[in-house]
Amino acid sequence: MYVFSNTAMSVDGRIGLRREAHVSLGSAEDRRRMSLLRAGADAVLVGGQTFRNWPLPLVERPEHRVADARRPILDAVITRRGLLDARPARGRWPDPRVRLLVFGPPTLDAAAHRERFGAEVIPLDEPDVGAVLDELERRGCRRVLVEGGGRMIGELLVRERLDALFVTLCPSVIGAPDAPALAEIAGSAGLRPLELVSCERVGDEVFLHYRPRRDRAPGGASTDSAGG
Ligand SMILES: NC(=O)c1ccc[n+]([C@@H]2O[C@H](COP(=O)([O-])OP(=O)(O)OC[C@H]3O[C@@H](n4cnc5c(N)ncnc54)[C@H](OP(=O)(O)O)[C@@H]3O)[C@@H](O)[C@H]2O)c1
Repeated sequence: MYVFSNTAMSVDGRIGLRREAHVSLGSAEDRRRMSLLRAGADAVLVGGQTFRNWPLPLVERPEHRVADARRPILDAVITRRGLLDARPARGRWPDPRVRLLVFGPPTLDAAAHRERFGAEVIPLDEPDVGAVLDELERRGCRRVLVEGGGRMIGELLVRERLDALFVTLCPSVIGAPDAPALAEIAGSAGLRPLELVSCERVGDEVFLHYRPRRDRAPGGASTDSAGG
């Protein structure tokens, strides 16, 4: 299974102003590319906080839908506390274009999630992103798009389950030290090397495609260069 992330990021590596609020950092071109990436995915996976901030179906635009795609697309969310505090506009769920899967502990209220979102709750004794990906694969997914947030991407990097990162470098600085970052790894100390696959400038944005370098273990900064 191929797992790839897509994130819009400020020049200082942030993906939002505050953890509890959605902000659109990218341009119309960024959103067009996001739709194309969704069109090439069997499932879109997000963390609970990202869903809470944007509790809407994650689906490609009609003009990007490909005839042989597995549809309805699966939208998957991993959560501990559940999604019942999310506030979608009335009538947004259920959505016939999307099948919503909610992965979480057995204590989640499956009936309430089904009623609110038309969701299927999949209980996991020890929820972790690896188990979620394994279940998506079992359900026939070959390509999974991860749309954040930073903690989700951090977990996937730690578990070496991320095959590619698509990052839109957006022309802004956020600066807030506690703003969410592209990848958040608790207790991380060291570099996780990436290889640049492609880089394209459109206007003031740069569209980057990286893949993790699995030939190099995570480690500290090189000491043979003063520059970084
Ligand atoms: N710029 C962009 O492209 C972009 C994209 C996505 C998100 N964002 C922003 O990023 C921020 C959210 O990022 P984040 O890092 O705070 O949150 P996140 O990665 O979206 O979600 C973290 C949450 O995922 C759930 N989770 C993660 N690992 C889990 C596990 N092993 N077991 C069970 N649940 C697990 C938990 O959900 P519960 O809290 O539900 O228990 C956890 O609080 C928001 O501000 C969002 O708007 C920006």
